[in-house]
Amino acid sequence: MAQRQPLIAGNWKLNGSRQSVVDLATAVSAGCGQLSCEVLVCPTSVHISDVLGVLGNTALHLGAQNCAEATSGAFTGEVSATMLAEYGCEYVILGHSERRAMYHESSDIVAAKCKAVQEAGLTPILCVGETLEEREAGQVESVIAEQLDAVLNGAGVQAFENMVVAYEPVWAIGTGKTASPEQAQDVHAMIRARIASHDNATAQALRILYGGSVKPDNAATLFSQVDIDGGLIGGAALDAESFLAICEAAG
Ligand code: 13P
Repeated sequence: MAQRQPLIAGNWKLNGSRQSVVDLATAVSAGCGQLSCEVLVCPTSVHISDVLGVLGNTALHLGAQNCAEATSGAFTGEVSATMLAEYGCEYVILGHSERRAMYHESSDIVAAKCKAVQEAGLTPILCVGETLEEREAGQVESVIAEQLDAVLNGAGVQAFENMVVAYEPVWAIGTGKTASPEQAQDVHAMIRARIASHDNATAQALRILYGGSVKPDNAATLFSQVDIDGGLIGGAALDAESFLAICEAAG
C-alpha cells in the first residue's frame, strides 16, 4: 500500500486584506513546522505575493484558487499558471463547485486548466462533488465519474500522477453539514477505484482530500478513513487556531 502524506489545504476564497493574510500566514507557518502532514494555503491571486513574503524557510506551502487555461494573450482579467509559478505557488485549486456553478466552468474547461497547471510544473487540486439534488437522485457516482473522466479521457491516467483530488459535496460546503465519515469514505473509495481501473499504482499514490464543513471537532474521524488523505478547508482555514487544530488531526 502506498504511503500517502496527508495534505491539509486552506481555501481562503474571496477573503482577507493585505494585513490580515500576512497575519494569518505568519500564524499558520509558525504552528505547522512540527506536523507530519503537508500544509498549504491558497489566498486570492492578488494576495499571493504578500503571503509569499512571509513563507521564508517555513514548512508552509502556497497555492492559488484558479487560473486561466491559456499561458498568455488576449484574456482580460485572467492569471496564468506560469505567472502563479513565478510567485511561488505549487498548487492550483481547479473546478471548485463555486467556479463550476457561478462561473459556468464545464468539466472540459476544468480539464484544460489541469493541463495548463501541469505544464507550468504545478499540481492541480481537482475538485469534484455532487449537489444535494444529484445525491437524492442517486447520481453521486455518475456525476463524479463525468468530472474525473474529462481529465482521464483527455490527458490519460498519467495526469493523476501529479494531481490531488478533492471530494467536496456541494451540500456540505459552508453549510455546517458535513458528510458522515462513511459517506465520504464511500465516495473516496469510488474515486480511487475509478483511477485504479486505469492504473492501480497511480490510484494508490493519489491523495484524495475531503472538503465541506471540516472543523476541529469532526476532522479526526474524517481523516481516520482509509481513503481520506487530508482536507480542503474553507471557513475554518480563516482562523489560524482552528486551521492548525485540523492540521494536527491529520498528523
Ligand atoms: P467550508 O469548509 O467553509 O465548508 O468550505 C469548503 C470548501 O469549499 C473548501 O474549498
